[in-house]
Amino acid sequence: MADGKDWYHWHHPYTDPKSALARRLRLVQQHIAAWLDEQPDQPRSVVSMCAGQGHDLLGTLASRFDADRVRATLLEYDPRNVAAAQARAAAANLESVTVRQADAGDLTSYRDAVPADLVLMAGVLGNISDADIRATVRVLPQLCAAGATVIWTRSRRPPDLTPAIRTWMSAAGFAEREFTAPEGELFSVGVHRLTSTPQPLTTTGRIFQFLP
Ligand SMILES: C[S@@+](CC[C@H](N)C(=O)[O-])C[C@H]1O[C@@H](n2cnc3c(N)ncnc32)[C@H](O)[C@@H]1O
Repeated sequence: MADGKDWYHWHHPYTDPKSALARRLRLVQQHIAAWLDEQPDQPRSVVSMCAGQGHDLLGTLASRFDADRVRATLLEYDPRNVAAAQARAAAANLESVTVRQADAGDLTSYRDAVPADLVLMAGVLGNISDADIRATVRVLPQLCAAGATVIWTRSRRPPDLTPAIRTWMSAAGFAEREFTAPEGELFSVGVHRLTSTPQPLTTTGRIFQFLP
């Protein structure tokens, strides 16, 4: 939580469309849009862990005619980012989006937000320990509705943990739909679909804490 980084200013590179962060964002948004297109007309729920200013989901929904079928909860700890995401959701008339100041590492924060049809985990797995990544992946089926999709990101900066993460996702009951690691980029985006039976949210306690 209070890890010393300025997570409000961290978002600044998004203002430059040529930045790596903006390139990663476009990829995540493409995956969110593809997920929506795969299941037209159906009500869908989304939970975003450590949502920041919500550029991925809010940016996608703002340009969609069918945004009102999406009920979303964005969990974010920094109150400045919460305020920015709330303002963006309000400006785009996204009335079914709730942005909540909460600790996404604490499972009680998910109580009324899950099971979700889409779990967004962007900018999370590169900021927590390997043990916390394993714990988070293991608990994902408790956040997911049947057939839910998880979209996650992780840098491939050496030592590249993405092969291990993909194995852990598979062991947790997910099938890989896509893993995009563009040539010349360090970032990667994974898309996994829950193929095992979802589990009720019974675990309590902490799954991760951001590294200092
Ligand atoms: C790397 S940024 C990613 C933001 C956003 N998901 C994105 O990709 O643009 C990480 C975000 O996690 C937030 N954060 C850190 N620890 C958190 C926690 N325990 N619960 C919720 N949010 C947290 C930070 O404030 C920051 O906005």
